[in-house]
Amino acid sequence: MIKDIQQKIVDLKKRNGVCILAHSYMSEEICEVADFTGDSYALSVQAKACVQNTVIMCGVRFMAETVKMLSPEKRVILANPQAGCPMAEQFDKDVIEEVKKRYPEYAVVAYVNTTAELKTVSDVCVTSSSAVKICRAIPEKNILFIPDINLGTYVKTQVPEKNFKLLSGGCPTHAKIEKSDAEAAKKAHPNALLLVHPECRPEVVGLADYVGSTSGIMDFAEKSNKKEFIIGTENSIVQHLQFRCTDKKFYPLSKDLVCHNMRITSLIDVLNCLEGTAGEEIKMDSELISKAVKCINKMIEYGG
Ligand code: 13P
Ligand code: SF4
Repeated sequence: MIKDIQQKIVDLKKRNGVCILAHSYMSEEICEVADFTGDSYALSVQAKACVQNTVIMCGVRFMAETVKMLSPEKRVILANPQAGCPMAEQFDKDVIEEVKKRYPEYAVVAYVNTTAELKTVSDVCVTSSSAVKICRAIPEKNILFIPDINLGTYVKTQVPEKNFKLLSGGCPTHAKIEKSDAEAAKKAHPNALLLVHPECRPEVVGLADYVGSTSGIMDFAEKSNKKEFIIGTENSIVQHLQFRCTDKKFYPLSKDLVCHNMRITSLIDVLNCLEGTAGEEIKMDSELISKAVKCINKMIEYGG
């Protein structure tokens, strides 16, 4: 049954020249029909490179907006219009403009998990896999990092030569994991390495053996000669890794590491998008695009 739906999707996307991009948090059955699967940085690069005129984004809204900004001439469809990212919408542009007034000598570095509006008042974007590299590389010594305080704190520890101001935003899914959860998981699996996403709290990151993006975590676990891993990011990654590395064992750091926004997109949504009965075509004002895309292009120039 699933195979039949997947075959329909593959036939339709080929016939209609559609590229399917899927964030690593998507289900295994969606990843199998995607042209490209990866973390936020890799998806941004791929969005620019893909040759098809239509892109279906299986992920959350800011990811579809990023594709649209990088390729405004393409039709970009968000597979499930309800998939938002609560972190991206935490701050209004006015709030950031007020903070900027207080720190005029600070460059605004925005996590890509932000709205297009916020990107218009930012100097450069970063993703979880590129944040450290980009904060080191930009010429400015003073950085106002928005909106994720946990990612910002992690970057600050890795780039001690710069001055950071942080806001109090964050990912509700990763931020609810506490030090006691990490300690309990380590106690339950004493031989496992703890791999965490930098959106986790500093006290959780402090206990980790590896800190990285979704793709970074998958790469590390696949290449490691160790056999057991506790995964400190959305639990879909536990399943992906278990499928890929059948000789290894993967444990979720917490049963609560579930992002409902990332889970909402189904294989049927993808089929319905291709049949024209679901999904939302991303429409953005061209002035908004030209202002907001600058910081995304800068991120890609500095590299992942
Ligand atoms: P990545 O940058 O690892 O893809 O993370 C995106 C995200 O939303 C994590 O919560
Ligand atoms: Fe947003 Fe967190 Fe979900 Fe990622 S896991 S999409 S940052 S809410």
